[in-house]
Amino acid sequence: MKIFVAKDYQEMSKKAAGIVASQVILKNSAVLGLATGSTPEGMYRRLVEMGREGAVDFRGVTTFNLDEYLGLDPGHPQSYHHYMYRHLFDHINADPAKIHIPAGNARDMASYCREYDEKIAAAGGIDLQVLGIGGNGHIGFNEPGEYLKTGTHVVDLTEETVEANSRFFASREEVPRQAVTMGMGSIMKAGRILLLASGKGKARAIKDAVSGRVTTRIPASFLQLHRDVVLILDEEAAALL
Ligand code: GLP
Repeated sequence: MKIFVAKDYQEMSKKAAGIVASQVILKNSAVLGLATGSTPEGMYRRLVEMGREGAVDFRGVTTFNLDEYLGLDPGHPQSYHHYMYRHLFDHINADPAKIHIPAGNARDMASYCREYDEKIAAAGGIDLQVLGIGGNGHIGFNEPGEYLKTGTHVVDLTEETVEANSRFFASREEVPRQAVTMGMGSIMKAGRILLLASGKGKARAIKDAVSGRVTTRIPASFLQLHRDVVLILDEEAAALL
């Protein structure tokens, strides 16, 4: 595990964008796994700038997003689908046919999840997976529990996650209680993993994630078993290391 401590959010975002951009420059047909949340917004802003400056060409890139709320239409302002277009896809030259974001409103979610995994495999697997981290150590929407699932699946969100994500909705009642997420297997199969964390609310989860112990109670702790993980933290998120 490589850990970079950036002085602030800005520097974290710049470093992360640099890594994603290098991946695309080195392999024009790179397969990227992408995350949502407030943490990667600055990284996406920087990538958009780099695209505009002509420093990166996204035309050949295939993307797979980690997760989506169950029951939200893609056009819902809080859907991760909407987030991805607003922060990235509306502003770069990626090919829409190569963009994949899990649908939270598929008729048959079980087959949909299976097909999502098949599409990742057919694309040759993920070269670089970007992750944020929940305050409870979740990655994607793989919540702490007795066991973790390997493939894409529907998950019940913990109260803590509903609470944390309620800041984006008009009220707590509006926050979906379920989501669809890539499983731990899909994440762990990525060639390289880039996890970003910012702010003191993530310090505990980061400490537990790199503790030397692996537990389903901290899904991010499994990243210690992956051979190519880069953590980019700001000083607050790194405070307990
Ligand atoms: C959300 C997402 C995760 C994200 C995490 C942290 O629930 N499913 O992919 O990494 O929570 O979000 P934020 O970056 O807003 O703190």
